[in-house]
Amino acid sequence: MDKNILRVRIRAARAADRADAAAICDRIYEDGSDYLPQLWDEWLNDRGGQFIVAEVEGRLVGVAKRTHLADDEYWLEGLRVSPAYQGQGIAARLQAHLVDGLHRMGGGTLRFATHSGNRPVHRLAARDGFQHVATYRLYRAEPAWGKVTVSLRPLTGDDLNEAWTLIQGSPGCSAANSLYETFWSWQTLTREKLADQLLRGGGWGIDEDDTLAALALLCDTDKKDALDVSYVDGSREALALLLMGLRELAAQRGCDKVRFRAAEEPELMNAIEEAGYWESWDRELRVYETFAAGGRRQSDESPRLDAD
Ligand SMILES: CC(C)(COP(=O)(O)OP(=O)(O)OC[C@H]1O[C@@H](n2cnc3c(N)ncnc32)[C@H](O)[C@@H]1OP(=O)(O)O)[C@@H](O)C(=O)NCCC(=O)NCCS
Repeated sequence: MDKNILRVRIRAARAADRADAAAICDRIYEDGSDYLPQLWDEWLNDRGGQFIVAEVEGRLVGVAKRTHLADDEYWLEGLRVSPAYQGQGIAARLQAHLVDGLHRMGGGTLRFATHSGNRPVHRLAARDGFQHVATYRLYRAEPAWGKVTVSLRPLTGDDLNEAWTLIQGSPGCSAANSLYETFWSWQTLTREKLADQLLRGGGWGIDEDDTLAALALLCDTDKKDALDVSYVDGSREALALLLMGLRELAAQRGCDKVRFRAAEEPELMNAIEEAGYWESWDRELRVYETFAAGGRRQSDESPRLDAD
């Protein structure tokens, strides 16, 4: 099919699209590993987000979603195009629609993650002015069963000032572009969000000479089998101890693994490996970011007859 004559209609996703979308996911991920079908209802009912599909001649050929994470921060996810229709500009249309939608809503920072080998997505990023702002490596570790050796302690609101000072300007924070993970999405770690994490019991730390030397934030998930680490920071030696402490915490909680998508920073990588974690994926994950100003962008100037 010629890319120039393909007539693509972009419209809001509907409940009735579910089976067709699931079939696309199955065609892309033949082992059935795609998370999208499980999130279908949640995404459909997400009033703060925009969930769209692409149709060609009445046939569903692609899906994509923009999710509101916090304040003026948004996340793109669930971009899928049916293999038979790939390479014809459909993902570009879906992404542009979600970017345009954010411009119209008043703007904000928009991010997404993809792996280092996903060339079409790297090109899509460039097309809409996204910058590659952080790289993550995927690590895993076994729980450390047996005697507890690390004095890991839960952090509270009283630790906020020390925790915030430790993070500010650290090499780890710079490598992460000041982002922390909220289970497969990343957003800016502000002082307010850090306070919130500590209040809900998601922060752990270790002290040296009565001073906080390293801290970890955990992802807030309903996963019981894994301890998912969201962010760590601190001195190199303290980090290795802290990461070992997280393996002990995983054992205490009955988890069967620790998972950590760690910002690529040399001292952190050393500490991770010293603490017995191994890299579980041969690719890196890249986070891309763009800022969409409020109002219309130039691409909106020409009328788009085939979009809702
Ligand atoms: C990624 C995906 C959505 C792209 O959909 P698509 O409709 O084929 O993309 P487009 O046709 O709009 O092409 C986007 C860009 O990638 C390029 N491209 C397309 N297929 C490519 C390929 N196989 N290799 C390299 N570049 C490719 C296009 O030329 C275009 O770049 P350009 O604008 O500079 O010309 C689709 O491949 C897909 O569903 N992949 C599996 C799921 C996935 O990886 N989703 C993204 C998760 S982050």
